[in-house]
Amino acid sequence: MAKSTSAKTAYVCADCGDSVAKWQGQCPSCGAWNTLKAIAVAAHSGAKSKRLVAASAAMSLEQALKLNDDRLQQRHDTQSSELNRVLGGGLVAGSVTLIGGDPGIGKSTLLLKVAAAVGTQSAVLYATGEESVHQIALRAKRLGVSADHLTLLAETELETILEQAERLTDVRLLVIDSVQTMVSAAVESSAGSVLQLRECTARLVEFAKRTHTAVVLIGHVTKDGQIAGPRVLEHLVDTVLYFESDAQSRFRLLRSIKNRFGATGELGLFVMDGSGLKEVRNPSAIFLSRARETVPGSVVTITREGTRSVLLEVQVLADPSRLEHPRRVAVGLDQARLHLLLAVLSKHVGLSLGACDVFANVVGGLKIAETSADLAWIAAAVSSFKNQAVSSRLVVFGECGLSGEVRPIAFGEERLKEAALHGFTHAIIPKANLPREPIDGLHLIGVSHLEEAIKALGLR
Ligand code: TYD
Ligand code: MG
Repeated sequence: MAKSTSAKTAYVCADCGDSVAKWQGQCPSCGAWNTLKAIAVAAHSGAKSKRLVAASAAMSLEQALKLNDDRLQQRHDTQSSELNRVLGGGLVAGSVTLIGGDPGIGKSTLLLKVAAAVGTQSAVLYATGEESVHQIALRAKRLGVSADHLTLLAETELETILEQAERLTDVRLLVIDSVQTMVSAAVESSAGSVLQLRECTARLVEFAKRTHTAVVLIGHVTKDGQIAGPRVLEHLVDTVLYFESDAQSRFRLLRSIKNRFGATGELGLFVMDGSGLKEVRNPSAIFLSRARETVPGSVVTITREGTRSVLLEVQVLADPSRLEHPRRVAVGLDQARLHLLLAVLSKHVGLSLGACDVFANVVGGLKIAETSADLAWIAAAVSSFKNQAVSSRLVVFGECGLSGEVRPIAFGEERLKEAALHGFTHAIIPKANLPREPIDGLHLIGVSHLEEAIKALGLR
């Protein structure tokens, strides 16, 4: 699409943010009608609003490394061990963090707690366009938090919020709840449109870099697309975290998708109860079903979530089908992976589930993206098909190749240690993952082919 460069006026779509040189009834990019609005190009693309860091001379890396700005390197303790870990050690001064998630998942609850934690030491501004100050105060009461330096502001106009933030002395944290409710006077577009979101975020990034204030943006993920989601902002910010949860589950997972100051893929675990979000210190315990009696089709495996090993229970139900095309339902794993594993099982072990409906599920609502659980899925499928339970003290992991070979996976020893810690006594693992030193209390069975693995399950 040709963007107007020479014209004084551009027409920008209020929905998708694309711009065209001539007015049209329908946006050529997103197809929305009557959304193109005239915008003075100079005001929109001027250097003033686009500059992210203060103008400065070019410098060598050597010089830059010598710059020892304490405030720049500082990380603020959020007083939540889980959040600190996901962030890579706390909120970085001058960084912009986006926290996305479904409405009602607990974003405001978490951020109010963080704002109060940082607000006990230095000035914090919590700006909300969603609730009244009174509502926030009620929530703070419920959470049992208070802070001497926390200022609340119910406002949707970005300029007013930034003005307030500048007025506070030594402000360390600015929370925007939510970025979709904010409007900047610089853009003629409704709150929540892509154009507003981008403009507001760009202004907040500029503010963060200039004043070394940590800025946290809350963004709603919406399924109907009525308001633009946080995805359109991911490239503008330093860190992106998403809240995930299973419907009806009390557990909340906070995952880092992007982090300019730490590792991504790190997972934080919380539980929502009557007095807010609590950290989960021992994640393995919650993802194993309470009663540890043995049931056919259920196998425990060990996944890596960031820097932690987590014990998970995978379940498969294989049931003779009455349908011409038996069903394959995968919850918590990739459907294509399930198809692949069933094909390998059929081809290389001679166990075909072609006449069965197969349902696969991860207990606790987690998703397994790793191939390390391949062997556990196959073991669960065989266990269900034969209607015989495997030992409740057994863990299984390993990647399965297309020729039925069992391949080693990363962090094998760390995973085994986690299993031993939780009282497991047997492990079926790839041969190449066998540790040099024995692990206390754990009997290890190393396998290099699927057939060996299934034999080791001890099912008739
Ligand atoms: P909230 O933080 O307002 O969600 P978001 O900002 O992501 O939209 O959390 C809303 C839900 O959390 C609400 O359904 C009530 C529940 N909740 C609790 O269960 N306990 C609590 O202490 C609080 C504050 C909220
Ligand atoms: Mg909220």
